[in-house]
Amino acid sequence: MEKTIKNVQDLYDMLDAEFRSAKQFWEPFYEDRDRPIPFFPNKPDENLVAHVNSGILPRGKALELGCGPGRNAIYLTRQGYKVDAYDLSETAIAWAKERAVEEQLDVNFECKSVFELTPQEEYDLVYDSGCLHHLLPHQRIPYIQMIHNGLKPGGYFGMTCFVPGFGGQGGPESVMDDWEVYREKSMKGGLAFTEEKLRYLLEDPFECVELRPMKAMDQDEDCFGLPILWVTLWRKP
Ligand SMILES: C[S@@+](CC[C@H](N)C(=O)[O-])C[C@H]1O[C@@H](n2cnc3c(N)ncnc32)[C@H](O)[C@@H]1O
Repeated sequence: MEKTIKNVQDLYDMLDAEFRSAKQFWEPFYEDRDRPIPFFPNKPDENLVAHVNSGILPRGKALELGCGPGRNAIYLTRQGYKVDAYDLSETAIAWAKERAVEEQLDVNFECKSVFELTPQEEYDLVYDSGCLHHLLPHQRIPYIQMIHNGLKPGGYFGMTCFVPGFGGQGGPESVMDDWEVYREKSMKGGLAFTEEKLRYLLEDPFECVELRPMKAMDQDEDCFGLPILWVTLWRKP
């Protein structure tokens, strides 16, 4: 029965309906490829490159969530990973596929919401660069559970998200609390997280391996880095 709340999914659907649809926002976002968006160039995150080079990450199968035009999935494929990468923007996925064809790389890019995925202990690495901070607070519950289910024991979850003071939320110490998101009916451009909040959300079920601000990278360097983001790496015990 429509609009009857019987289970948790009904509750999530009701909360989602209070906000603008993510697809509506992200679909046109990628139409003009010449816009000066910092993550449009085809360069991987500095932290991902550092973690791959350090040898800490097991090689094998990787999942990228909210992959956009695919820069990190493409990098992981070049490094020998077998990669599944999803985004809800068809425009972004079309661009990502073009990039893979140009480099003759076999990447499984698909246009799908992360909430449609049901992976089971199959990935060595799950990576999210800037997706979680655009999810509504209640959406983190199935999202983190899905990541945990999808990782093999001993697998890693890498994630970047806004540090306080960015994402359109005001001053350097400003972090919107989760209840405020529902009162304001807006995430004001993306949620920022304190270190304490990130640890609270992720330390159960994961172990923290790294949590630091991203290094700033110049435009002429071959990786992406902006200190408005946290760099985080977690391990499934
Ligand atoms: C800030 S962009 C980052 C894109 C890419 N990770 C990068 O760093 O180049 C966030 C991405 O998350 C995607 N996204 C947001 N909600 C999603 C969902 N429910 N399922 C799949 N992708 C989603 C958006 O379409 C967008 O491409």
